[in-house]
Amino acid sequence: MIEVKELTKTYKVGSDIIKAVDHVNLEVRKGEFISILGHSGSGKTTLLSLIGGLTKPDSGTVKIDGIDIWSISDNDLSELRNRKINFIYQFASLIPTLNIIENVLVPTAFRPKDEPINYYEFAMELLDIVGIKDKARSYPAHLSGGQQRRAAIARAFINNPEIILADEPTGDLDEETEAEIMDLFKRMNQTKGITFIIVTHSSDLARQTEKRYRMANGVLKEET
Ligand SMILES: Nc1ncnc2c1ncn2[C@@H]1O[C@H](COP(=O)(O)OP(=O)(O)O)[C@@H](O)[C@H]1O
Ligand SMILES: [Mg+2]
Repeated sequence: MIEVKELTKTYKVGSDIIKAVDHVNLEVRKGEFISILGHSGSGKTTLLSLIGGLTKPDSGTVKIDGIDIWSISDNDLSELRNRKINFIYQFASLIPTLNIIENVLVPTAFRPKDEPINYYEFAMELLDIVGIKDKARSYPAHLSGGQQRRAAIARAFINNPEIILADEPTGDLDEETEAEIMDLFKRMNQTKGITFIIVTHSSDLARQTEKRYRMANGVLKEET
C-alpha cells in the first residue's frame, strides 16, 4: 500500500520557482495497476522519484506499508527500496561489458549470500517470460532496442519487487513492442500481484489501465 499525502517539491532555477509536484495526494492499494498521464514537464518523473525515495520532498509524506519513508535512516530507506521497489526507465541502461543474464543478475549482488533462492534459475525464468531466453549469453550491443528493453524489464523483476515504478517504459518503442510490454506488465500484475505505477504521455497506453490519473503543472487528478 502506497499513501502519498500533500506531497510537494519545488525547484529553484535562477529566480524562477518551479512547482514540479504540487500538493499531490494518492493512494495505491497492493496489486493495483495505475497510470499517470501528462505532458512533458508536468512533474511525472519527479513524482515517481519522490514515491520511490530517490528525491526528498519539500513537504508532505510518502508511506509504504505504513512506513513514512522520509522518517527512517538512509540505510533503512535503501533496504526498503531494495526489498520492495523497482524502477523501469525509458532508456534501458544495460552494462555493455556484461552479457544479458549477467545484467539481469546485477541487482542480486547486494543480496545476502544465504538466501534460499537460485537467482540464476530465476533470471533464466524471467528471460523466458520476457521472450529472450535465447539471448542469455549475448551482449547488449547484439540485441535490438526492444530486446534490450525486455532485458532491463527482466532485471527489474529479479529482486521480487512488490512495487514497480515505470517512467515512460515504452516511450521510444513501436506500437507492437509497446503492446507486448504492457501485456507483460499486466501478466506480472495478475500472477505475482505486483503493484504498478506507470507514467506515460500516451493516452492509448493510459487507457489500458483500470485506474487513471492525469498530471498537469504538478497537480494530480484522478480521471473519471
Ligand atoms: N533537478 C531539477 N532541477 C530543476 N528543475 C527540475 C529538476 N527536475 C525537474 N525539474 C523541473 O520540474 C518540472 C517537472 O519535471 P519532470 O518531473 O521531469 O516532468 P515530466 O517527467 O512530466 O516531464 C519541469 O518544469 C522540470 O524542468
Ligand atoms: Mg519525465
